[in-house]
Amino acid sequence: KTVIGVLASGRGSNLQAIVDAIQAGRLAAKIGVVISDNPEANVLKRLAGSDIPAICIDRRQFASRQQFEAAVAEELNIRHVGLVVLAGFMRILSQYFIDRFAGKIMNIHPSLLPAFPGENAQHKALYYGAKIAGCTVHFVDEGMDTGPIILQEAVPVLENDSAETLSERILHAEHILYPRALALYCEGRLTIEGRRVRIIDKE
Ligand code: GAR
Repeated sequence: KTVIGVLASGRGSNLQAIVDAIQAGRLAAKIGVVISDNPEANVLKRLAGSDIPAICIDRRQFASRQQFEAAVAEELNIRHVGLVVLAGFMRILSQYFIDRFAGKIMNIHPSLLPAFPGENAQHKALYYGAKIAGCTVHFVDEGMDTGPIILQEAVPVLENDSAETLSERILHAEHILYPRALALYCEGRLTIEGRRVRIIDKE
């Protein structure tokens, strides 16, 4: 079984969707550790009393980004993590960290990339008057939300949408998409060829 290490900064609803998928037998993986960079994160409260190890590695306790990332990488290695899953992790990882887990870091982003990378993607979709929004699961490279795309799901932008109602519709799609992408990885069905991810059919 693939051991997953989840990095999260906030609410933790995507982590919850992953936990639920494992429990329901839709995802053959084990969560080895959940790491938050933020001691106040709701994701840590969510896991209190569960048997999933949840820890905080506070960026403010480290002099440099590389020292912070080295501490995160060491924790992931101690737990034998084979796939790093970013779930609302609001920091950009440096080349140093990405090289240590080459091809083994995934992220979910609330837009149809390459449209609207970075923060507040749902606001940007509304601002630009997009009629279709969505979410993307991708492998992480050194750019911001630029790595090879694994899966995408579209949702409509409705006439009366606010950023909140659109975000909620996208989030619902995220909760289905992320466990599906993780399952493909864990079944060994993803290969990266240049910028393209190929999904191998099930036999
Ligand atoms: C999700 O919408 C995720 O796509 C987004 O943050 C939210 C986290 O929610 N991530 C990014 O914007 C990354 N650039 P969660 O903590 O409830 O999973």
